[in-house]
Amino acid sequence: MGRLDGKVALLTGGASGLGRATGELMAAEGATVVLSDIQEVEGENVAAAIRETGGACSFKAHDTTDESQWEHVCAEILEEHGHLDILLNGAGIGGGGMSIEEMDLETWRRCLSINLDGVFLGCKHGIRAMRQGTGGSIINISSILGLIGMVNTANYAASKGGVRLLTKAAALECARKTPRVRVNSIHPGFIDTPMVASAMQRRGPEFKEFIEANVPFGELGEPVDIAEGVVYLASDAAKFVTGSELTIDGGFVAR
Ligand SMILES: NC(=O)c1ccc[n+]([C@@H]2O[C@H](COP(=O)([O-])OP(=O)(O)OC[C@H]3O[C@@H](n4cnc5c(N)ncnc54)[C@H](O)[C@@H]3O)[C@@H](O)[C@H]2O)c1
Repeated sequence: MGRLDGKVALLTGGASGLGRATGELMAAEGATVVLSDIQEVEGENVAAAIRETGGACSFKAHDTTDESQWEHVCAEILEEHGHLDILLNGAGIGGGGMSIEEMDLETWRRCLSINLDGVFLGCKHGIRAMRQGTGGSIINISSILGLIGMVNTANYAASKGGVRLLTKAAALECARKTPRVRVNSIHPGFIDTPMVASAMQRRGPEFKEFIEANVPFGELGEPVDIAEGVVYLASDAAKFVTGSELTIDGGFVAR
């Protein structure tokens, strides 16, 4: 018996990093997984690799900032699978690593558009789709930077702080409605994905020293560490959990 047997899951940002690892784990736990992303070739490859391991997985091209694409993807899932039970709002980008004084409005808006508007649209259309079935679970990927500030992260931290409270507002709206939809956020620390690899490349050895000095565990997390948290919140084991925030960060915000 898998922890997600019979459930249909949509994972945005599913072609890479945390979304990919979550797709692999969800499929192993018995879910029918629909990955979506703007990276089409990579997304199709990930879905094919999951199918090769015996998992049920497909890919849809999907820009999460475009509302009409959300309508289309959710309608297709309901048509093809009959219900949507799990949504991971995982698509996101980094902030660019610059000070507020240097940041142009376009850089600010682009980050907010993908990291916050995209999650709003996901909550809106995910809730609508889930309420046509037996309800479900939405997991929004925020960040430790949705909990605490850090220099040169203004746009990213603002977007992730927004995701944290959007999650709580959505959870409260859904709490008394039947069928029930639960909404929670996950706050990853520094995890070994392509997003962090590009920050590492930009900042060089200084970044590794920062991790060793500031993360209590002294190392990066693995994508599967986040995937395990997502699967828990998606599963019926978390049936009484909504509006909560799960921090998975090697102790970073405990300092
Ligand atoms: N890796 C970390 O350390 C870390 C820490 C905290 C939070 N996060 C968050 O986790 C999420 C996943 O990040 P990751 O580290 O796996 O990065 P990643 O770059 O490996 O994956 C992000 C995916 O999102 C996709 N994407 C970007 N814009 C999109 C759009 N408009 N529509 C659809 N897909 C889009 C990308 O193509 C990519 O496949 C992000 O929201 C990120 O902010 C990551």
